[in-house]
Amino acid sequence: MEIARRLEGLDSAIFSEMDELRVREENKGKDIINLSIGSPDLPPPPHVVQALQEAVANTGNYGYALTKGIKELREAVAGMYRRRFDVFLDPNREVLSLMGSQDGLAHIYLAVVNPGDVALVPDPGYPIYSFGIHLAGGEKYAMPLVKENDFLPDLTRIPEEIAWRAKIMVLNYPNNPNAAVAPREFFEEVVAFAKKYDILVCHDIAYSELAFDGYRPISFLSIPGAKDIGVEFYSLSKTYNMAGCRLGFIVGNSTVIKALETIKSNIDYGVFLPVQQAGIAALTGPQDWVESLAQTYARRRDVLVDGLNKIGWQVDKPKASMFVWAAIPPGFKSSKGFAVDLLKRTGVVVVPGAAFGKQGDRYVRIALVCPEQRLQEAVERIARHYHLPE
Ligand SMILES: Cc1ncc(COP(=O)(O)O)c(C=O)c1O
Repeated sequence: MEIARRLEGLDSAIFSEMDELRVREENKGKDIINLSIGSPDLPPPPHVVQALQEAVANTGNYGYALTKGIKELREAVAGMYRRRFDVFLDPNREVLSLMGSQDGLAHIYLAVVNPGDVALVPDPGYPIYSFGIHLAGGEKYAMPLVKENDFLPDLTRIPEEIAWRAKIMVLNYPNNPNAAVAPREFFEEVVAFAKKYDILVCHDIAYSELAFDGYRPISFLSIPGAKDIGVEFYSLSKTYNMAGCRLGFIVGNSTVIKALETIKSNIDYGVFLPVQQAGIAALTGPQDWVESLAQTYARRRDVLVDGLNKIGWQVDKPKASMFVWAAIPPGFKSSKGFAVDLLKRTGVVVVPGAAFGKQGDRYVRIALVCPEQRLQEAVERIARHYHLPE
């Protein structure tokens, strides 16, 4: 059977090669510290599990759900946006439930991109941004995120001709993989740029609640005029450790949300009702739970970053997200070369930055998905196997 050409290049060779190597090393009996996965290792809040259990036990919850999401859930989202971000949303027109934000990020291009249109996509960036534009038959224009510009795209470097052809721009702060955050002034610049060139801005805010040391990420939609040109993708996966539960939202511009709803209503039947009930419990329940989750990540970050800096591997301390973006030590030519060497020598698994785009190739992404003691162990193994510059 011949497989469609659009699938070419969709296989992420780097992820699968690293995974095969991990399994090989594991089978040799090596103790693996897996810091490559972006899935939380901790459980969801008990009140969310309880709400899910009760809803699952209700046999009335097994029918098809509406694509849009039940009213109480959309109201819970609007309530959370008002309290947390000072953003007012109409739960009927400006909120749409998703089977995880990935669902929306994959399909949003189909709503606004015609063949030949351009998408402005961050490099490095979360892979679905690039795959989505490819599946929609559009062209990707990579916006480099480099340390010298605080990992923000330099909008002044986007050629005028590309900007006019662009229909969509994707942003993600706090960022995966580089853990960067964006100041209000940058978002203001984006709103002006998007209005000038008539571009839909899609802001992915999956890590908004994993922020440290008093820093509070803002919503793109809190910028005046943002709703005219923008939508935001919110996820419950990381904030409430519900990654497998598949619940997220798109909020913002009602025309775009309607278009995405039309696409999705032809593809799926909405989120399983008990998962929606769990989402209501999460969004309307006690939020100090989220605060203590962020503190757990902050402690892990300190163990890892302070530890690596002490042994001579200089890495920046992120203000948010569940990742550390570490420049590969001198002497290594590529992120994959270093990640393979690290895994073989120490049993520590990280993601080569090249998996997220060309600009990532001098970095590896280290996920804070193990307890502090395992992260300490990872640092000690690295210290034992590498002579890093002081
Ligand atoms: C930046 C970013 N956006 C979106 C997602 C997908 O999240 P969800 O589980 O809501 O589909 C992830 C998952 O790792 C992510 O890192």
